Amino acid sequence: MSRRQVDQGRASKSTDLERRLPELRGARFTDVPEMARLDRICFEEHAYSADLILRFLELDLPCVVAKREGGPMMGFAMVMPEPDERTCVLVTLDVLPEHRRRGLGTRMISWCARSMLDSYPQTELMWLTVASRNEGARAFYGRLGFREADVIEGYYGDDDAVVMVHLGMKVLADGRGP
Ligand SMILES: CC(C)(COP(=O)(O)OP(=O)(O)OC[C@H]1O[C@@H](n2cnc3c(N)ncnc32)[C@H](O)[C@@H]1OP(=O)(O)O)[C@@H](O)C(=O)NCCC(=O)NCCS
Repeated sequence: MSRRQVDQGRASKSTDLERRLPELRGARFTDVPEMARLDRICFEEHAYSADLILRFLELDLPCVVAKREGGPMMGFAMVMPEPDERTCVLVTLDVLPEHRRRGLGTRMISWCARSMLDSYPQTELMWLTVASRNEGARAFYGRLGFREADVIEGYYGDDDAVVMVHLGMKVLADGRGP
């Protein structure tokens, strides 16, 4: 993820209806405006534009959305292969604040890992960058088994990027812990 720091403190408890988690499905072109809106909620001025998200979908890369028909988008994630095809990068992972801490982020990472392995079975490693001040996301990735491998100073302008790496694509795809 090329950017950002985020408020992780806005997750709230909600109704039983909201607790029911949506099915995950591949993103459609018609999802793009909502994806851009959700990215702005999650990353504010560092959000990806609708145009950039659209270009990503046009490449037909793994991109998952969490959304009930007729309801708001609760989350999405995008992942892309590196040229070596053994490595992939998590481009973004967004969960609407009121739907956090219910397993949606974990499920979407698994979906992305499964989808990558379907297209590129030789993929071994997923990496990403996260703003150093985004402690919630760092804890989330750490819990999934990502390790902090490097720091890129000033990557986000006013914050450093932490490079996090997971060496077990199949473990991620299975949705198991480290
Ligand atoms: C990071 C993010 C994707 C996590 O999504 P989520 O759906 O809340 O994650 P999960 O419910 O699958 O969390 C699994 C576990 O990760 C850990 N975790 C998740 N969020 C955490 C937080 N804010 N603080 C500490 N640990 C956290 C917990 O151990 C959690 O299990 P628990 O709820 O049983 O304690 C979500 O907070 C988000 O969209 N944040 C804003 C955007 C962002 O920062 N994206 C990542 C940028 S690199």
